[in-house]
Amino acid sequence: MEHFGGAGHSSEILKRLSTKGILIGIDRDLEALEVAKKKLEEYSNVIYVHNNHDQIRNILEELKIEKVDGILLDLGVSSYQIDEKSRGFSYIEDSPLDMRMDKTQEKTAKEVVNTYKEEELARILYEYGEEKKSRQIARHICEIRKKHPLETTQELVEVVRNVIPNKKELHPEKRTFQAIRIEVNNEIEPLYQTVIDCIHCLKPKGRLCIITFHSLEDRAVKNAFRDSVGKCTCPKDLPYCICNHPKLGNIITPKPIQPSKEELQKNSRSASSKLRIFEKT
Ligand SMILES: C[S@@+](CC[C@H](N)C(=O)[O-])C[C@H]1O[C@@H](n2cnc3c(N)ncnc32)[C@H](O)[C@@H]1O
Ligand SMILES: [Zn+2]
Repeated sequence: MEHFGGAGHSSEILKRLSTKGILIGIDRDLEALEVAKKKLEEYSNVIYVHNNHDQIRNILEELKIEKVDGILLDLGVSSYQIDEKSRGFSYIEDSPLDMRMDKTQEKTAKEVVNTYKEEELARILYEYGEEKKSRQIARHICEIRKKHPLETTQELVEVVRNVIPNKKELHPEKRTFQAIRIEVNNEIEPLYQTVIDCIHCLKPKGRLCIITFHSLEDRAVKNAFRDSVGKCTCPKDLPYCICNHPKLGNIITPKPIQPSKEELQKNSRSASSKLRIFEKT
């Protein structure tokens, strides 16, 4: 089972898969599925699913597949999504404030920026973007939108640059865009449970591989793995265990695998990526 995006991993998996093996490709982005279908058209052993990976248990139930041998979650946005101007992910292009991975979803970046309360915006910018000037940016957004709603990515860029001029830093809006994107697509909150659900969907000796791109994602994955190895994580002063973490398997990567120098040269977008692997018993 794999996240599609540009189907880069999927095509490598398919090259190595026997014709008896089936690849289930899940993406919440219909355009990503279309790109993958074209790229993988020579393969007949692929099932394409337009859904959110947090529905993994339902997806497999509907396909009448009980357990799988391996799962790869390659999180975050794809290069295709960032580069496709009209999707509104890029702070370099000017386009409507959208940022939805799934265009059938209602909530857009425009809604977040124009309707969230100032404190809520500040929290999102701080937590999801690690933006130190989160409060000032949130305040400035609210001042501007009193006059007119923010419509485009460049309007948002301008608001951020009014707070942090781009003298020292070329793109100070990067953190704000990341934060809004994470909120629009609800990328963090369901992740811990998704990881646990994925582990439950594995056959014995099956492996779950997860590639994350920022610390909040990585933390959710790390915590879910930690809570699945059967060790008590209760505070030491508790007289008895209340966490009751079940032993579902083992962590294969005590430290995450990060890109090599050669990989970074070929693909600079891999810079912040971390791969963690869990094996079911
Ligand atoms: C980094 S890209 C995957 C790239 C792909 N592995 C490749 O090799 O080309 C991430 C993809 O995951 C999708 N995605 C992100 N979160 C998702 C979720 N919760 N459910 C389903 N798909 C999701 C995005 O739409 C995007 O296409
Ligand atoms: Zn415990």
